[in-house]
Amino acid sequence: MMKRIALVTGGAGGIGTAICKRLADAGHTVVTNYRNEVKTREWQEQMRAQGYEFGIFKGDVSHTDEAEQMVSAIEAELGPVDILVNNAGITRDGTFHKMSPQQWHDVIDTNLNSCFNVTRPVIEGMRTRKWGRIIQISSINGLKGQYGQANYAAAKAGMHGFTISLARENAKLGITVNTVSPGYVATDMVMAVPEDVRAKIVAEIPTGRLGKPEEIAYAVAFLVDEQAAWITGSNLDINGGQHMGW
Ligand code: CAA
Repeated sequence: MMKRIALVTGGAGGIGTAICKRLADAGHTVVTNYRNEVKTREWQEQMRAQGYEFGIFKGDVSHTDEAEQMVSAIEAELGPVDILVNNAGITRDGTFHKMSPQQWHDVIDTNLNSCFNVTRPVIEGMRTRKWGRIIQISSINGLKGQYGQANYAAAKAGMHGFTISLARENAKLGITVNTVSPGYVATDMVMAVPEDVRAKIVAEIPTGRLGKPEEIAYAVAFLVDEQAAWITGSNLDINGGQHMGW
C-alpha cells in the first residue's frame, strides 16, 4: 500500500478524530487544521498518548486565503496532499423565520464554502499526479431536510452537488470524489441537541441507537482505498436506516 498524505479538515472533532485514526491505521500520514490552537494542541497530545501522531496546521477553512496558506504550509512541510476529507462543519440551528444572516453565513461559509477553499489549492496537484481522493462529509439532513436546519441542510446538500460535478471533471485523471452522509452520530454536535428533541430523533432510527464515529470513518477508509478507484460521484448514506432512498 502506498503511504499518502491525508488532510482531514475539522479532524479534532467527533467524526473527524475517528477518520484521522482510521486513515493513520491504513498507513497514511494524517494532518488537520485548527482555529483554536490551545484546544487542538490538547487533542494532539491526547492522540499522541494513544499512539497517533497527527500534524496540525493553522487555518480557518471558511476563509479562502487562510485555507490556501494552510495547504501551502502542509505541502511545504510534508509533501503533496493526495487525500482530502472535507469534514469541518458547524451547526447554528434555528427555525428559518427567526434565522439571522450570521447564522446563515457562518454555516454556509464553514460547511460549504470551505469545500471550495480547501479543494481548490489541492486539486491542481492531484490532476498533475493523476491520483486523488476527495470526500465530502455531508449529512442525512442534506438529503431529507430538518426542522431548524435550513442553513445546514442547504450547505450539506450543496456539498453533494460539488461532489458530483468534481467527480465528472476529474474522473479521467485518477481522482475520485464522493460524499458520505452520516445520520445522527454520538458526537458533541448531536449531544448539543436538546435532550427531548434528540430522544424523538433516536426513536425514528430503525437501529434504535445513534451511530458511532468509527462507523463513519470505516466508510471513509473504504472510499480512500486504492481498490475504490471506480467509485466516484457516489453518496454513501450511513444513518442506521433513518432515511432510505435511491
Ligand atoms: N417537527 C415539527 N415541529 C417541530 C419540530 C419537528 N422536527 N421540531 C420542533 N418543532 C416545533 C415544536 O414542537 C414547537 O412547536 P409549538 O410552538 O407548537 O410548541 C416549535 O417547533 C418550536 O419552534 P421554535 O421556532 O420556537 O423553535 P425553538 O427555538 O424551540 O428551537 C430547534 C427549534 C432549534 C429547531 C430545536 O427544535 C432543535 O434544536 N432541533 C434539532 C435540530 C437538529 O436536528 N439539529 C441537528 C444537529 S446535529 C447535526 O446536524 C449532525 C447531523 O448532520 C445529523
